[in-house]
Parts: sequence; structure tokens; C-alpha cells
Amino acid sequence: MEGPTVESYRPDHPDIRADFIIPQGWDQYTDEEHGVWKTLYERQMKLLPGRACNEFLDGLTSLKMSEDQIPNFDEMNEHLMKLTGWQVVAVPGLVPDGIFFEHLANRRFVSGNFIRRPDQLDYLQEPDIFHDVFGHVPLLTNPIFADYMEAYGKGGLRAMRHDCLQNLSRLYWYTVEFGLINTPEGMRIYGAGILSSKGESIFSLDDASPNRIHFDLPRLMRTKYRIDDYQQTYWVIDSFEELFAETAGKDFGPIYEELPDLGAYEPWDVLAKDKVYTQGTQEHAKSKGRMPIHAA
Ligand code: PHE
Ligand code: FE
Repeated sequence: MEGPTVESYRPDHPDIRADFIIPQGWDQYTDEEHGVWKTLYERQMKLLPGRACNEFLDGLTSLKMSEDQIPNFDEMNEHLMKLTGWQVVAVPGLVPDGIFFEHLANRRFVSGNFIRRPDQLDYLQEPDIFHDVFGHVPLLTNPIFADYMEAYGKGGLRAMRHDCLQNLSRLYWYTVEFGLINTPEGMRIYGAGILSSKGESIFSLDDASPNRIHFDLPRLMRTKYRIDDYQQTYWVIDSFEELFAETAGKDFGPIYEELPDLGAYEPWDVLAKDKVYTQGTQEHAKSKGRMPIHAA
């Protein structure tokens, strides 16, 4: 299934506002919770130099991202606001689509205020503060990516009116969450879902299983995705300029007209017209029984 269900919202917080914002409550984090942040931070920083794109690594530096404690949003926002005019706001968990887009369109990035437990370091279904802040916020210091995210928020509100949210969600998934980028030094990661995961930071770049295909908007908007395991296809951009030009620079109206009549592609499909960097073996997905028999 794609997209959250109503049950996954937790609007029962005592101080929740109509736009779902809550106080971060930084003073209430325990030493154990700060310790989880420190452990995850150290673990990712052993891996990411040479794997994450420079824009992400530079963002950590210019934000003075907190290494051994959960970041305090007020402090982080002072840096972020000066750099690109973005802010991070706390919410209790996933929020309804319209609320999410409205915040993005106004350069507010929503983050869960809770952190995973020590026994959940490798896998967690809901986005926690490590994913949301470590994974997403550094790139918001990049002017082009910052503009892309705002445009995406506005585009989300438009997609809702066209009933094409599922297609637009795939764009977010395959770029903001799981995107790869070509650089002069080689392929690098910019997707937050990868950057906040130890296993996928290695798998996405080094494993022979997944496909790696050049970004193609209409193609990607028709491709289903996995939420329960590593991706079976990663989409690769040449630059954030390219990503911006191909999305914010295009009118999706005509695409939205056509999409309902076109079928969806499976997460592992490779088409003759795809610009393929790696044709994956899909060994990983097969080993988990996640490929149909005829494709195995
Ligand atoms: N250009 C898109 C539209 O016309 C909006 C958009 C911008 C979508 C950036 C995604 C990212 O709807
Ligand atoms: Fe995310």
C-alpha cells in the first residue's frame, strides 16, 4: 500500500495545533534517547563520507548539526533560517497529506519529535527524529534543493486537486527519500531514507541486486515502490539543477491528464527505453520471496 492510513496519525497530543505542530519538548528527552541519536550519528558518519553527496555533508557542517545529543530545533533553525529560510517544526508522527504539503509550500519541514528505541536501531516503520532531521534537513541548506522542496509542497496541493497524489508521492519517494546522484567522483546518495539507514547506505550503492536507472519523470511516476524493504530500483539524477528543471520547471497538468489511462510499472521493471546504469540481479528481493515466480 502507498501512503499512510488515518490510524497512523496521532492527533491526540495535548498541545497539538490545527496544523499538527506540537512543541518539540527538547528538555524531556532522556539520556538514553540522546544516546540513541549519538549511536546512530556515529554509525552513519563512519559510512557516509564517500557515499553521501557533498551537498549533504556540507549541510551537516553549516548547520553545526548536533552529534552527541538530539538537536534542539530552535537552535538548528537559527542556522537553517539564515541559510535558506527553511524551518523544522515538530509533529507527533505522520500528518495528513494536505497539512504536509501546506508546510512544505511555506518552507517548513515537519519532523517527528520522538526517537526510536535502542532495540530499533536498524529498522523502524515510522519516521523518527533521526530519519527526519539527520536524513532530510542537511539538504535543505542547499538553495536549489530547498526550492525543489517548496515547489513540491505546492505541487502536492495541485496533485490532490487532480486526484494524482499517488503519482506525485512516487516522485517524493524516488527522489527525496531514495534518490542517487552522479558526481565527478562517482554515484552518491542524496535520499534521506538511505542516508538514515546503515544497511541501505551500503546496499543502494554497492549491491548487485537493485536497478540503477537515470531519472525519468513520467516513467518514475508510474513505478510502484516498496515501503517494507530496500528499493528494487534507484533513480539517478545528474544534478539538483536537473531535478528542479524536470519537475518544478514543468507543468504536470498534461501528465496528470494522461496518467489515469496508463498502467503502473513494477518496482523491478526495466524497459527498453530506460537509461540503465546497473541492471540489478534482484537477488535480495528474490531471497525474501518478493518477486513473482515468472520473474524469478
Ligand atoms: N511543476 C509541478 C506541477 O505543475 C509541481 C511540482 C514541482 C511537483 C516540483 C513536484 C516538484 O504540478
Ligand atoms: Fe522521510
